[in-house]
Formats: sequence, C-alpha cells, structure tokens
Amino acid sequence: MLRNMDREGFSFRVVILAPIGRDASASADLLRKVGLTTHIAKDLSELLCCLDSGAGAAFVAEEALFNEDLTAFQDWIARQPPWSDFPFVVLTSQLDHPRAKTWRHALADKLQNVSMLERPLQVITLTSAMQVALRARRRQYEVKTLIEAQEAAAERLEALVTARTQELEQANADLKGQMVERERVEASLRQSQKMEAVGQLTGGLAHDFNNLLAGISGSLEMTRARLSQGRADAVDRYITAAQGAVKRAAALTHRLLAFSRRQTLEPKPTNVNRLISGMEELVRRTVGPAIHIEVVGSGGLWPTLVDPNQLENALLNLCLNARDAMPEGGRLTIETANRWLDERAARERDIAPGQYVSLCVTDTGIGMTPDVAAHAFDPFFTTKPLGQGTGLGLSMIYGFARQSGGQICIYSEVGKGTTMCLYLPRHDDDPSIDDAANLPEASVSPGDGEAVLVIDDEPSIRMLIADVLADSGYSVIEASDGPAGLRVLQSAARIDLLITDVGLPGGMNGRQVADAARELRPELRVLFITGYAENALVGNGQLERGMHVLAKPFVVDRLTAKIRELIKY
Ligand SMILES: Nc1ncnc2c1ncn2[C@@H]1O[C@H](COP(=O)(O)OP(=O)(O)OP(=O)(O)O)[C@@H](O)[C@H]1O
Ligand SMILES: [Mg+2]
Repeated sequence: MLRNMDREGFSFRVVILAPIGRDASASADLLRKVGLTTHIAKDLSELLCCLDSGAGAAFVAEEALFNEDLTAFQDWIARQPPWSDFPFVVLTSQLDHPRAKTWRHALADKLQNVSMLERPLQVITLTSAMQVALRARRRQYEVKTLIEAQEAAAERLEALVTARTQELEQANADLKGQMVERERVEASLRQSQKMEAVGQLTGGLAHDFNNLLAGISGSLEMTRARLSQGRADAVDRYITAAQGAVKRAAALTHRLLAFSRRQTLEPKPTNVNRLISGMEELVRRTVGPAIHIEVVGSGGLWPTLVDPNQLENALLNLCLNARDAMPEGGRLTIETANRWLDERAARERDIAPGQYVSLCVTDTGIGMTPDVAAHAFDPFFTTKPLGQGTGLGLSMIYGFARQSGGQICIYSEVGKGTTMCLYLPRHDDDPSIDDAANLPEASVSPGDGEAVLVIDDEPSIRMLIADVLADSGYSVIEASDGPAGLRVLQSAARIDLLITDVGLPGGMNGRQVADAARELRPELRVLFITGYAENALVGNGQLERGMHVLAKPFVVDRLTAKIRELIKY
C-alpha cells in the first residue's frame, strides 16, 4: 500500500518543517524507514509551496511557527476544495507556561485538522500518527475521485444533452428546409398546371376563333366578288354563312364569360321543379329513345333566385353529357331536393353553409376517372373526338353556378355512372309572382311615336340602335356621352325609355346617368347595354325595378323585342 502511495508522486508525501537542530532529518529518516515519502521544508513559505504542489500530511515542529505571520497559511487552509481537510501533526515544544498553552489552542483552531504530539517523542508515536494522517488523507482523495467522477458524468450527460439538442435542432431545421422545398415544388407545380390550363384555354380559343374568322372573312370576300360581278342575288348565302359564324362566335364568348363568371345574369325567383317539367319533352327528344328518363321533383321545393334561361341551358348541357356517356342507352335521372348544408358539408363542397336547392342529373354511363373528374370543369377540356365536344359545357355550368352563389359537384364511378349536382341558394320570396316573366312574350304592335333617348359613344352602335328604333316607329334622341344625355333629360322633351351604354366618356358612366335620370323622372325605364367588364357597375344583374340589361353582342331582333317589352310594360 505504501509503495502505491510512492507511485502517486507528491500526493502522499509528508512535508516536514522543523528548522531547529536535527529534528527534521531524524524524523525524516524514521518515516522513510516505515516506507513514507518525505520532504523537508526549510521555512514556512516552502511548506506553503509544498502544500500547493501536493502533499499527504505535514509534520511541523511548533517552534517553526512562533512569531510567524500565519495569514497566508490560514488562507490556504480556508481555500481547500470541499473534499480536502489537510492533516497537520504538530510537535509541541517543552514550553508549558499558560501563554504557550493559549497559543497552542489558537493554533489548533487555525490548522483545523491537527494532532499534537508532545516531546519527548516515541518513534512509534510519530510513525503511527503520520500513518493515520495519511490514511485520512487517502480517504479524502477517494472522495475527490468520486466527486470528480460524478462531475465528469454530469459533464458527459450535459454534453450528451447538448449534442442531442443540437441533433434535434438540426433535424428540425432539415425538416423545415424540406417543407420549404416541398412548398416551392408544389407552388411551381401549381404554376405549371395553371400555365397548362391557360395554354389549353388560349389554344382552344385561338383554334375556334380562327375557324370562325375564316368563315366570316371568306364570306365577305365572296360577297365582294359576287357584287363586283354584278350578281347581288348570289350574295345571300354568304351573308347567311357569315351571320352563322358570328352567332357561333357570340355563343363562344358567352360560354367563356359564363366560365369567368362575368356573364350578364338576370336572376329571377324560380321554381326549379316547374322549370324542369317545362324542359322534359325537349330533353326526351334530345337524348333519344334508348335512354329512359325519370324526373323526381321534391315536394315543397324551395324557390331559388337564378337566371332561368341559364339554368335551362345548364340542365340541357348536363343531359347532353349524360347522353354521350351512355352510347348504348341507359337511365337518366333528374332529381331535385331541399338541402341544408352545415359547416362540414359546405366545406366539403367549397360553398358557404346554408340552405340550397339541389338539382342532380344522374346517368348509368361510362363514368369518369379521377383525372377526368379533376379536369372536367377546365375550359376546352374534352375527352370527346375532335369536332364532337368543345369542352366548354361544364366550365360554363361551373361559372354560372358560382356566379349564382352556388356550386356544382361531381360524383362518379368508372363503369357505373355519374351524378352531377348543382346547388343553388334558397330564395325566400314566392316564385309565383314572377311567373309572368317566364311566359312567352305576347306579340306587341310597333311603337307609335314614343321617344327613346340613346346614349352611346360608339357612333356605329348608336346609329344601329337609332335605325332599329326608327324602323319600329319610335322617335330617337341621340347623345354621345353622359353630360349630353343628362341635358336632354333635364329638358321638357318626352322620353319613354333611356337606352345607355355603361362605359361612357365625359366623367359619368351609364349607371350614374341612369341614377341622375331617375331623380328627375322617377318612372323612367332604363335599358343598359353592357360588355362584361361593366357588369359590376349595374349590380351584376341585380337591378332596381324598371332597369334592364342587354349584353353585347346582341342580335337586332333581341334588341327590338326588349325595347318593345320595356315601352309597353
Ligand atoms: N356524365 C358524364 N359522364 C362521363 N364523363 C363526363 C360526363 N360529363 C362530362 N364528362 C367528361 O367531362 C368532359 C368535359 O365535359 P364538358 O361538358 O365540359 O365538355 P364536352 O361535353 O366534352 O364538350 P361540350 O363543350 O360540347 O359540352 C367530357 O369530355 C367528358 O370526358
Ligand atoms: Mg358537354
């Protein structure tokens, strides 16, 4: 054991301070004989140095401390780490007067862990005292090792926690990075899908309009050629062909406007059951005898505020799609119901919660794959052979449904069939009051001198309207902008109807002119002529009584009929 201590360097050496006589070397010899390592310090400051560099115990003759300043010594003792309580063995002198005793007591207090050995000293007393002191010191070292091991473990734990935290932070950062990357990829995918849809739309548009333009310009060229040949009687068929192309172009723009939700709607309180029964015969004839039709109209169906003409159009389109999906025949069901959509049901259908009337068309046809269903509402998306479908049917119904505050949903299974459901918001008013509006127009006699004020900045349109009015026996006053029109309205001139463009120069739009006119002449009937962009200005079709809308482009017959309806009404 003692040899082990040797190996541990200064830790177990006994530092001896006994400056007088041979005390130091004699005790060193004795201690070495029992296997202890010793070091003789020549004075107090060397003893302190030895304590700093490591020692197991100190053997001090008390006379070495007489009249010494022990402050540094005491400081060293006080500074010891918690595990250390350095053992001192003090050899007392033979002085035994009271002052010496008091001094000794004070010294014991200062050194704390101290044993006093009295002179004359027995060898065994010295060696055993020093061995006891070193054993106590060994215990202190063991505690030190334990504390250090604990501290190291705590440090390792802390390092481990830090490393783990760092790993977690890194994983977190990686995850965030991946999320950002995924969002970026999704955004670019959405963008490319959008671009694909826009490409499809522009391509489809360009293709269709090119065909129509070819029809119109060819017809015009042939008309000119025939006229230059003096064959005026041969131009009729070309004019008819050109008109046909223009009609198709107008229908095309109408479908596009419907999709973009900017068509001019004339919503009326409508009983959908009655509207369906009015169309049943037409649908039956259109789909043919191979398809069995069933109409299930819900009793007590709520009225809905919708443009009835467009709803008819939508229903017919849905039935045509159903027919095309059942080339071998099948069953077509048209069904209505009152629907109360709660938060969840509304969210699933991307629509506001509330009360709706549903109109569902179900077929037992080929059905749609999820991919077709996902694109079915895209304009120009069609799976039909070239020339058989424009791919605008469903996109138009979709735009119409959304513009009417509703929705259209697809439920389809490949090989089983498809249900297309239109949801239209419930309307509180009684639909019967407006039934007159759905009746076919009574034929009316031409005008007899009623006056019409026409405001339009486009001379060709103004001229056209004025000519139509004059042909029908009305007197016409023309104005090219709002302020000019207003001056006429402020005069005493008779005016039975105001026809105004909505987009007008001169600081007043058509709506403002109409409002100012109503101040002056509250009963005045108004007909707005609009392109789609001004639609919002005239309330998206929700107009005051006596105000009506005619969308461009319009055919002359429609204009005449509308004017008559308004003046006679
Ligand atoms: N009832 C249905 N059953 C199966 N597929 C359908 C049905 N309705 C629509 N589709 C699919 O959705 C596509 C788009 O329909 P949409 O009505 O918009 O255009 P289309 O019928 O092809 O042409 P059109 O412009 O003449 O209506 C169709 O080509 C078809 O693939
Ligand atoms: Mg279709």
